[in-house]
Amino acid sequence: MYEQYLNYVRDYLTAHNGIKSENPEQTFRDRFEHTKRVIKWLDIISEGIEADREALYLAAVFHDIGYEDKDRKEHGKRGAAIFREFAKKEGFDEKLTDKVAYMIEQHSDKHLLGTDIPLELTLLMEADQMDEEGTMRVLWDCLVTGKLGAESYKDAYDRMMKFKSNMPNSMVTPRAREIWERKSRLYNEFLAQLESDLFINDDTNIYIKEGKI
Ligand SMILES: [Fe+2]
Repeated sequence: MYEQYLNYVRDYLTAHNGIKSENPEQTFRDRFEHTKRVIKWLDIISEGIEADREALYLAAVFHDIGYEDKDRKEHGKRGAAIFREFAKKEGFDEKLTDKVAYMIEQHSDKHLLGTDIPLELTLLMEADQMDEEGTMRVLWDCLVTGKLGAESYKDAYDRMMKFKSNMPNSMVTPRAREIWERKSRLYNEFLAQLESDLFINDDTNIYIKEGKI
């Protein structure tokens, strides 16, 4: 069932130039692959949690369908309208349609996370943010730096340092909080190790500090 919906989303995004990021620095990102990973994250973080799974998975499948090559900020609103049209054609229950459309419309307003919103929206927003963090954030930073014409390892390091502080744990549900912690730790440890390996600041060289040399 979801396979069929996913195919619809892939075809829709393709037809509206929504698969690839319109940002020339981020051509390595793929919104359909992202959508599939968000569904996997949902499986992980919602395990054992009682929630409306039908609404949750439908919203995850359709959450980014509203992306086009323009007006990124409007993608939630646009996505909700596209879903409503699809749901009507498929004869979905009205209550379910309203719930899913609401989730699609609101999912990109990250300030809502941690406020009084339905559990399903919380889980969707968490799963959405879980993707492209940790190891993928390291790759993202390096790939962007490369696109911007990096000429040294230090250029990648500088970019990572710039974004390092923007990683507060805003997750709400326990599993999501735990995974975010791990992703965040990995990123920061990678950065500390890189700083050491590049001998950016000899005083903080971890091998010296640990008495290895
Ligand atoms: Fe997304």
